[in-house]
Amino acid sequence: MSHSAELTQVENSLSPLAPAVYIIGAGPGDPDLLTVKALKILQQADVIVLADSLVPQQILQDIRLEAEVVCTSNKTLEEILPLMIDRVRSHQSVVRLHSGDLSLYSAIHEQMQALAAAGVPFEVIPGISAFQAAAAKLKVELTVPGLVQTIILTRVSGRASAVPPSEELASLAAHQASLCLYLSALHVRAAQEKLLEHYPADTPVAVCFRIGWPDEKICLVPLEQMAAVTQEERLLRTTLYLISPALKTALVNESTSAARSQLYHPEHSHLFRPSR
Ligand SMILES: C[S@@+](CC[C@H](N)C(=O)[O-])C[C@H]1O[C@@H](n2cnc3c(N)ncnc32)[C@H](O)[C@@H]1O
Repeated sequence: MSHSAELTQVENSLSPLAPAVYIIGAGPGDPDLLTVKALKILQQADVIVLADSLVPQQILQDIRLEAEVVCTSNKTLEEILPLMIDRVRSHQSVVRLHSGDLSLYSAIHEQMQALAAAGVPFEVIPGISAFQAAAAKLKVELTVPGLVQTIILTRVSGRASAVPPSEELASLAAHQASLCLYLSALHVRAAQEKLLEHYPADTPVAVCFRIGWPDEKICLVPLEQMAAVTQEERLLRTTLYLISPALKTALVNESTSAARSQLYHPEHSHLFRPSR
């Protein structure tokens, strides 16, 4: 890289952010799992509006000393939105930080609508969702040829959000896919009963508590013990369940070891590796 190109790159990295709201998916909690783009914006932002009940403080380790940090766990949308709009109108850059990826269970839809209505520019920067971080920790692929090829991301109904009847857990369980169950630890016994309507009782379940946080804990158990282990170990907040036949690889490392994708198989040819 030429000297002038290097200088331009440094200047760009130091240039102040345009006044706008940057809605960022913070990933599961480990700062090393922020995207490069998210980290660059966080390092420059004037204001950080943090969903603090789900994003650990360690994510803020590289922010500016003078950045204003606003925690939102005790605030309503009616308090959060005017604050963000006001700061942008005062020519400040605002990061709105949510956990995981923003495309699921992030409550950003209503924030984006309100920002658009107020004429406030915003950008959306994706993050790593809890299910991806959990699969990586477990060193498993949730799609294994011949075993399971579908991933379902879902939750049970909570006090704030009802799941439509057509997406009821028992009907999703009928697919016996890799099922990633968010926001459900408080209703784990009912969830287990619905899952048992279709999955065998010995289907492996990973109970993933606070992946990437300092007190992370993962328990691999058969489905019939999912509720008991959650309650005995008190894994009740920020817990994700992975229910999947693919987790057999994490437990025993044998039954699925023979199952492999054809993609890299010597007898399989394709556009980039024609038959010889
Ligand atoms: C409001 S939702 C946010 C999900 C987030 N948008 C994502 O993509 O991971 C919060 C739920 O996500 C799951 N979750 C988020 N972060 C997690 C983590 N670090 N470890 C385990 N589960 C997590 C839990 O099921 C938690 O109850």
